[in-house]
Amino acid sequence: MRLFICGFGTVGQGFAEVVASRKGFFEERFGEDVTIVGAMDSRSYVTSQDGLDPMSIVIGKAENGRVGPDGYDDPLAVLDSVDYDILVEVSPTDVKTGGTGLITIRHALECGKDVITVNKGPLALRFRELMDLAESKGCMLRFEGSVGGAMPIINLCRENLAGENIRSIRGIFNGTCNFILSKMDNGQPFEQALKEAQQMGYAETDPTNDIEGYDSACKVVILANSVFGRDVTFDDVEITGITSITEGAIALAKSRNMVIRLIGEVSDTKLSVGPRLIPRGHALGLSGTLNTAQINTDLAGPVTVQGRGAGRMETASAILSDLVAIMEARR
Ligand code: HSE
Repeated sequence: MRLFICGFGTVGQGFAEVVASRKGFFEERFGEDVTIVGAMDSRSYVTSQDGLDPMSIVIGKAENGRVGPDGYDDPLAVLDSVDYDILVEVSPTDVKTGGTGLITIRHALECGKDVITVNKGPLALRFRELMDLAESKGCMLRFEGSVGGAMPIINLCRENLAGENIRSIRGIFNGTCNFILSKMDNGQPFEQALKEAQQMGYAETDPTNDIEGYDSACKVVILANSVFGRDVTFDDVEITGITSITEGAIALAKSRNMVIRLIGEVSDTKLSVGPRLIPRGHALGLSGTLNTAQINTDLAGPVTVQGRGAGRMETASAILSDLVAIMEARR
């Protein structure tokens, strides 16, 4: 299986390491190699039809700040310069336009390639168009890592809970906000907590997307479209971020044995992101950078999942699960 990785940032590097470390697994399970035939970051690329050494790309990126010596003007021309089976699109989220990710994903699908992405912009803005395109071309578009990072949610709902009537999903879908709110619970000021979240690498390139609730809203849209079969975009979500939560509000919640958490809610009729009062000790009141989701189903009842919502290896693990699913389906 030949991969092209677009957006070779932290997650792309983590995933290249996973490809290297799971070599034996792929051979044993599928009797075939997984090779990286191309990698592209925002200003350079490297390709080889014979396959690149994943660790050399990772080391090169760490040492030189770029994946290869060559720059490019047209990312699509770079994609077309090698034969690949799956585009792994992991460039930073652009919630306004979908960014380069939207262009490369669309192009790969038009060319009949399968796509794995964790890029929330294209999914939050053009979900139905991209899924219809994938279907018309007989391709797979998978995106487990776009919501909840390593926390299984999309494939869990669509595959493991297939046939269930999923009534609603409520959850914490942004590690940065949860980290900030948890720190504020302990008396730390907002700005200082945000700075720490940025240093930990959880926050988006533009942290406004986290603290204003836009990142959570993208995830709510992705869940609504992929799990509830709705046809909604980012603009359909009622969004309130955490910037107006005062220390006084946190203290008042605390005095009532509650915490304030940024909760995303999805159902057939509801789409919202906003701060909610949660009883201390409740599954949705967790602290730190973890994500969680309560999935309410008709047969299984409530199903709760929890996991690391971001991070290099954590997100790479979700990409790996999509890769394995594609390889199984293509076998
Ligand atoms: N900025 C996001 C978060 C990263 O803090 O959860 C994962 O989408």
